[in-house]
Parts: sequence; structure tokens; C-alpha cells
Amino acid sequence: MSAPYLSLTWTDHVTGRRGFLVVDRLVRGVASGGLRMRPGCTLDEVAGLARGMTMKEALHYDPEGRYVPLGGAKGGIDCDPRDPEAYGLLVRYLRATRPYIEAFWTTGEDLGLSQDLVDRAAAEAGLVSTIQAVYPLLDDERAARRRLADAFAVEVDGIGLDELVGGCGVAESVLTALDRTGTPYAGTRVAVQGLGTMGGATARFLARAGLTIVAVADIKGTVSNPVGLDVEALLAARDTHGTVDRSALRPEDRETSSDAWLAVDADVLVPAAVSYAIDPANQGRITARLIVEAANMPVLPEAEDLLTARGVTVLPDVVVNSGTNAWWWWTLFGDISPDARGSFDHTRRSMRALVDLMLSRAERDGTTPRAAAHALAADRLPVIEARYGRHRPI
Ligand SMILES: NC(=O)c1ccc[n+]([C@@H]2O[C@H](COP(=O)([O-])OP(=O)(O)OC[C@H]3O[C@@H](n4cnc5c(N)ncnc54)[C@H](O)[C@@H]3O)[C@@H](O)[C@H]2O)c1
Repeated sequence: MSAPYLSLTWTDHVTGRRGFLVVDRLVRGVASGGLRMRPGCTLDEVAGLARGMTMKEALHYDPEGRYVPLGGAKGGIDCDPRDPEAYGLLVRYLRATRPYIEAFWTTGEDLGLSQDLVDRAAAEAGLVSTIQAVYPLLDDERAARRRLADAFAVEVDGIGLDELVGGCGVAESVLTALDRTGTPYAGTRVAVQGLGTMGGATARFLARAGLTIVAVADIKGTVSNPVGLDVEALLAARDTHGTVDRSALRPEDRETSSDAWLAVDADVLVPAAVSYAIDPANQGRITARLIVEAANMPVLPEAEDLLTARGVTVLPDVVVNSGTNAWWWWTLFGDISPDARGSFDHTRRSMRALVDLMLSRAERDGTTPRAAAHALAADRLPVIEARYGRHRPI
């Protein structure tokens, strides 16, 4: 594993809290990766996520596409996003990292932050946009920015398109895996940890495909119902942090502890909240046969070894949740039009092809899907490097 291009720790002069930025590598002079805010966030975590972003970019490499990959990066701030100090801290972090955002780091929302909030804080920090570093790579910057703005203005049944595409990709990953084993959607039970951007959209797409969502967890606990939750009612009852107002529950829905989602009677688990949610100690409580990583790094490596040994398949984050990042670029570079149908169709097609490729490679090599995804990325990175160089400024 080679050293990252840039790794830094920032200490806020007002609160003493810390933030991090890791640029794993530059491709075409630019790196892409979101910004998260969570209490306990560390430099190591951000470095792992930045490496993952390099892989996500490489996995979507299509030599025929208008969008060709960037490098990977990630930002992180160690703070509870609901803390009254959080917004000021976010603005100061963006002010401090502004030269990097202007020069080569394109960023957006991740865990704990919404795109609206990041955009507002970025404007206050004096930035034109959080993705301005990519503008020199565009043929027609005005048209490209218009396309992305138009796409961000689209809403589908009360949720912004930008908050749906990632979950569309996660859901398609689940459906592809079910199709490969001939498992019918009806009757397949799903438990989701997190009902924010990723978990909420995933739950919607899976429910609409005919699967039964039997449990969802948020920061306050797990809500479950063995015959199925009313997903749309829960989505409509969320606050901006993805916490569900419990008054929306029906009398037959149950409320249990925050880790109960993991052990409910389900066929598919979708961790879509925090990193390190499934560890060697709690993995033994899982009865589902398929775990689909909507969150970044939710399954610890030792837990995955134990799960694999007892026949549980884990579809890895680098593939499963890569749809959002790719969609931004497909839209900006003009591979797709800024509407819901084009976005969902392209996301579904790309994710299905990628998941199929990964699972076929895993079968061929006798490895886990994660090892297969890493092997695919390792095959592509030198090809990308040969075409565009590495760490080369624009
Ligand atoms: N937002 C994106 O575009 C994006 C893209 C790719 C990957 N991801 C990853 O997906 C994950 C979720 O991101 P998001 O943007 O959906 O976050 P979010 O802030 O929108 O939502 C997080 C959800 O998780 C819940 N949650 C937080 N801590 C919890 C806990 N300890 N137990 C149970 N639930 C908990 C919250 O209540 C909320 O419902 C993160 O790992 C993120 O890195 C996000």
C-alpha cells in the first residue's frame, strides 16, 4: 500500500476539535471524496475511506465514457453533527482546507452532513463550489454546472435525486445478488441500519422492488415489524439527521435497542450508518445470509472472516455504495441527462454490471467479493495511471 499524496490533521482554534483530510492519490490532478462529521472520527478512518474512494473511482472506469476517473480523497471532522458548535466548526474546517478544495479536492456530503449544509458552509467559507477543482477538466463548464444544478433540483416523491441515487445503487446490488441465486424478491426480508441518505433511499428502492423491510435502526434505536414496516411513512417522519419521529409508528411496530437490527430474522442486512458496526463479537448474532455494505467500512475484517467461514456473503462498500460519487460525475461530464429516469437507469445498469463482474471474479478466483473488487481495482489502476499519470497537477 503506497503512502497517500497528502494527509493532514487540523485543530480548530476555537473549540480544540480536530478535522482530517487525506488525499489518497490524484488522477488528472484531482481527487474526489466526501466529508463526514461524527464523534470519534480519526485520521486512520479517513485514510481508509480515501483509499476506498480511489478504488471506487477506478471501478467505474469506462474508457468510452465522458467521465473518466479522478483520484480518491476523504475529509472528516470529529464532532457530533447535532452539537450546537457543529456548523461553525464546519465553516472553519472548510476555510482551513479551502486551498486544497480550490486546487484539487472535490467534496460533498457524507455521514452526518447533508449537501445543503455543506454548500451553505462552503459559501460562507468563500468557496465558489465544493467541486470547483474539477472545472478545468470540463469541456463546457457552464453547461456542465447547469446540468448538475438541474439534477440537484429534481425530487422524487419528497426526496432529492442526489439523495436517492446512492441507495438506488445499493438496492440494485442486493437485487443482482438475489437474481444470481434465483431468490425471489417477494418474501425476502431486509434489515437496514441507518435511515439517512443511504439507508433511507435503499429501503425505498428495495420496498418498491417487492422486498419486505422488517427492521430499520437509527441513532435512537431499532424499529421492527416481522411482516414489514411502512417505509414511506418512516421516510416522511425523518428529521434532517435521519432520525425517525416515533409518533409515526403503527401500533404493531416494535421499538427495541439500537443494535437489535443486526440480529432480527432477516435474509439481507444493509448496514447504512456507521463504520465498524459489525465486529467479531456481534457477528455471531447475525442470521442473514447476505450483508450489503451501504456504509463505508461497516464490517471489520476479522468479522468478515468469521462470517465468510459460516457462509455469509458480504458485498463490499467500494462497489455497493459507489453510485453517488459516480452519478455526480456522470451528470457533470454529460454521460447522463439531469433527470430521474436517466439517472436511475444508468445507475442500475452500471451497478448491476459491476456487481456481476465482481461476483463472477470471486467465483473464478475462489475469493470473497471484496477480494475480487480489490483485484478488479488493482487491474484498472495501472491502466488509468498509464493513460493519465499519477499525482500530476493539471
Ligand atoms: N451520503 C452519501 O452520498 C454516501 C455515499 C457513499 C457512502 N456513504 C456512507 O453511508 C453511510 C451513511 O451515510 P449517510 O450520508 O446516509 O448518513 P446520514 O447522516 O444521512 O444518515 C445516518 C443514519 O444513520 C443513523 N445512525 C447514526 N449512528 C447510528 C448508530 N450508532 N446506530 C444506528 N443508527 C445510527 C442516523 O440516525 C441516520 O439515520 C456512511 O458510512 C457514509 O460514509 C454515504
